Amino acid sequence: MNDFSRTERTTARCLLRPWRMADIPLIPPVANTREISWNTSFRFPHPFDKAAAERLVLWARDGAGEDKWQFAIFLDGELVGSCGAIRGADVEAHTARVGYWFGPAYWGKGLATEAVNELVRYMREETAVEQLSASCFGWNPASRRVLEKTGFRQEGLRLGVVRKWGKLTDLWIYGQLL
Ligand SMILES: CC(C)(COP(=O)(O)OP(=O)(O)OC[C@H]1O[C@@H](n2cnc3c(N)ncnc32)[C@H](O)[C@@H]1OP(=O)(O)O)[C@@H](O)C(=O)NCCC(=O)NCCS
Repeated sequence: MNDFSRTERTTARCLLRPWRMADIPLIPPVANTREISWNTSFRFPHPFDKAAAERLVLWARDGAGEDKWQFAIFLDGELVGSCGAIRGADVEAHTARVGYWFGPAYWGKGLATEAVNELVRYMREETAVEQLSASCFGWNPASRRVLEKTGFRQEGLRLGVVRKWGKLTDLWIYGQLL
């Protein structure tokens, strides 16, 4: 079993490594924006303050390398976002659900595609997980595109199951076998 806490993965432009407690103050300047929260679950709040950052890092480190593989992503030494996977439960324990977010200043540069590609490679090479899933809100075509570019296929569309800040949308379901 590899020591997840020592994991470092590099892409053409980014470094991916597990969250550290020292990262907490770095997170709000990147994550405190409605644009990320609008596209994610209520677990990613807005405003995103230091307490939210602490909750995120504690959550990411709990079960890290066993049931959770969450990476902070750095570009030229700056925190720019995160990607990771969470193991499924019960009969889905051989699967994991993928998620990711970047600060809006870093959108549109191909960074999510680069990082998610590396995450998929890591999950395939370094874990026993055999299947990955992901889902995105109906108003998030950029995320659908990231998934399509990183080997995921659309498996379903759940109509009207997401309500965020009073607005209703669909949930696009994606998956890939590793
Ligand atoms: C989704 C997100 C991670 C994308 O990050 P990114 O670094 O900009 O993504 P990339 O640049 O790698 O790829 C984005 C792709 O979406 C496309 N795209 C962007 N906006 C689009 C739109 N409105 N309609 C269709 N395609 C769009 C881009 O053209 C690009 O595809 P291409 O390479 O074929 O041209 C980023 O917007 C984000 O963090 N959003 C908030 C959190 C979030 O949505 N997380 C995912 C939850 S499922």
